[in-house]
Amino acid sequence: MSEFGAFLEKNKVAWNQRTEIHVDSDFYDVAGFKAGRSSLKGVELSLLGDVSSKSVLHLQCHFGQDTLSLARMGADTTGVDFSENAIEYARGLSREIGVDARFVLSDVLALNLGETFDVVFASYGVIGWIPDLQKWVDTAALHLAAGGELVLVEFHPLLWLLDDPTRADYFFSTQPDIETENGTYTDGGADTAITTCWWNHPLSALFRCLKKAGLELLSFEEFDHSPWGLAGMVEREKGQFVLASRADQRLPHCYAIKARKTAAPPSPASG
Ligand SMILES: C[S@@+](CC[C@H](N)C(=O)[O-])C[C@H]1O[C@@H](n2cnc3c(N)ncnc32)[C@H](O)[C@@H]1O
Repeated sequence: MSEFGAFLEKNKVAWNQRTEIHVDSDFYDVAGFKAGRSSLKGVELSLLGDVSSKSVLHLQCHFGQDTLSLARMGADTTGVDFSENAIEYARGLSREIGVDARFVLSDVLALNLGETFDVVFASYGVIGWIPDLQKWVDTAALHLAAGGELVLVEFHPLLWLLDDPTRADYFFSTQPDIETENGTYTDGGADTAITTCWWNHPLSALFRCLKKAGLELLSFEEFDHSPWGLAGMVEREKGQFVLASRADQRLPHCYAIKARKTAAPPSPASG
């Protein structure tokens, strides 16, 4: 087991607990999803563009709504997650709505499917669960065909500090921020204590990792709101949520990156 193994095991327990709560939450609105609503938000939809006839690897797919939303758009999708409950639910959801997608149970850091994809996609609350960001980006690159694109839409690493300055460092530390709280970020589960381990990754680290993995940055954008209304946020405009404690300021809430796998990885001399 790596130095991070015990933390990752804790997170897996947490995500199994969270999944049980999330599938019944208003936040994830599974009934609406079954009725045809896409779970994808405008930012990722515009970065992903037309995915029909594309192969998409969706990292940390949770219980499958985004993966299946992409499949509904005509993509050939594979979702990966390390939570047994999430993957089991995702497979059931796929069967129930009659939309095909492959779901793979794996720690994303151990993933090697032996195939490549046109697009690797991940969104909203993914890299903070990852102690080794370079390995995560390398895994995305490993699964991209030459010319394929990584689309990552993520909460901004400053967001958590803006809300609670005592919560964590901005810069990465091998020691995660360990938190136990009752419930999760959705409604429901108030009687369930859940412990999570979180690593904050500054944007500079992400850019360094992309370059090292041979991924050329095509676009980078920051947003002054989140499309997901998390605890402690208010809806400033329709579909735009901001920290209630800082609602009068325009502060970074999310960012989006698109990067392309160049035909060959950069030589070591290019840094
Ligand atoms: C916040 S969710 C991702 C958000 C997703 N866009 C959604 O549908 O809400 C984070 C996911 O990452 C998964 N995860 C966390 N660490 C992981 C790891 N090391 N390997 C694979 N999956 C992991 C969790 O199980 C969870 O499903």
